[in-house]
This record gives sequence, C-alpha cells and structure tokens, in this order.
Amino acid sequence: MILNSTVHVGAELPFKIIHLSDTHFTLVDSRDNEEKHRMAASRRKIFPLSETVRDTALMLSRELNAPIMHTGDYYDFLSYGNFDEIRRFIDENDVFYAAGNHDFSHYLGEETETEEYKLRSYRDVQALHKNNIRMSSRIINGVNFVALDDSYFQFHSDHEKYLLSESEKHLPMVLLFHKPVNCSELLAFAREADRVGCLVSPPSWSYEGKNDDWCAEHTPDDVTLRTVELINSMPQVKCIINGHMHENFVCRNDSGVPVILTAHDTVRVIEFT
Ligand SMILES: [Fe+2]
Repeated sequence: MILNSTVHVGAELPFKIIHLSDTHFTLVDSRDNEEKHRMAASRRKIFPLSETVRDTALMLSRELNAPIMHTGDYYDFLSYGNFDEIRRFIDENDVFYAAGNHDFSHYLGEETETEEYKLRSYRDVQALHKNNIRMSSRIINGVNFVALDDSYFQFHSDHEKYLLSESEKHLPMVLLFHKPVNCSELLAFAREADRVGCLVSPPSWSYEGKNDDWCAEHTPDDVTLRTVELINSMPQVKCIINGHMHENFVCRNDSGVPVILTAHDTVRVIEFT
C-alpha cells in the first residue's frame, strides 16, 4: 500500500521523504542455525510483504529523489540472511534509520529486553548503518530530522541532552522514533486495537493485571518522563514519525503536533512544506 501525507513544518523549499517502518525481513541462509530457520518459516507468514514494501520504497525514492527514513525493525531477528539484506539496503540507498526493538533480537521473546540484552548486539547492528541509530540529526531544506532510539520504551539522559542541543539549532524539527509516545488520540486508537502496551509512557490503568516484567519494562523512568515532557513542550517540534504498532494512523498529540504512524505493509510518501 502507498499512502501520501503532507505536513507543514516551515521548510525552506517543499520536499518529500519515504517513510517505512517494521519491514520485519525474515531471511536466513546456510550459516543460520535450525532455530533461526524455524523462526523464519513461521514469522514469514506474518510478514510476507517485506520485499514488496522495500522494492516499492526504492522505486519511489528514485522517482521522487527522496531519502528513505525507516523507524526500525527492518528485520525480525538477527540472522546472517537478514544482515546481508539490511547491509545492501543501507549501502546502496539513502537511508536515515531509527532503531526498533527487533533490531537487537537474537530470538523472539527468549529474554526480557533490557539495555544489557541490547548491548550484546549493539556494536554489530550499528556497524550496518550510516547514521548513529541511537541518536542522529539530518537537515534537509532547513528541517532538522532527529532520530532517537526508544526501542525499549525508555529515553536516556543522552537523548535528553541531544534533544536540547538540537533545539538550539532553531530549526523546525521532525522527530523519528520507533515506539509512539502516549497521547489522547493515540491512546484511544491503541485501546480499540488492544495495543495500549505499544505506547511509551502508557496510562497507569494499563498496568492492572500485568506481571512484574511487563510493568518494569513499561514504567517510564524519570529521564523518560522528562524527555516526553520535552518532546511535548518544545516549540521546534513540528512533526513526529513512528512505527511499532503496524498500523497506519495520523493524529495530533496533546500539544497539537502531527503524529504519523506507518504500518509494516505500507510505504508512505510524506511531503514537508
Ligand atoms: Fe515491528
């Protein structure tokens, strides 16, 4: 599916980007073990369109001379096959990337996703990319795109400092991060889809009946709360782009800033004016 969106952010000249998220490639080869092959076979049924979405994005990117911005989960799990795929995608194309939780998944759900777990693969994953996937900035026609890694539901003190330093460039900012931050419209949407657990800083009632691990993972720490507050209050923030929910959804957050979610089976062309 191809969708089009237009957002006024105060660009020097209008331009387009291609937004992708959650392509969840499930590729394996002879170097991958049996368990990875099993995972690939079963997960492929959930994500059969990875190649189609990639090829459509590449075609549009060339046609429109637009960079690709991907908000994480390019692949479903770490494998030799998936690494070859993403390496080629990044090397051969103009891609700006924000990390997703699956970017660091050895298997799926075998362990709680903690910073320690992420660090086991972080160096190898970062080496695939041209931009820093923890935090990066790229300026296009006077618009500052800022990518942050919130893949495990938390922001960190370096994110907070980075956001403040980026705001000092005094340019309109478009934020890209994998997991959407809770706001009224998103919460109503997520509630209907029974996906409230996808949101960063979910409401306190959503913890009822959940186990300790779930609560520990989802409870925003002080830095995350401050960073969310910063995101919601910085006048430079003109648009927020997310993935993770595997749904297409466009709304405004509680500060009136447009929030755009793109689904795993969708290529979204976003024009910034
Ligand atoms: Fe995903």
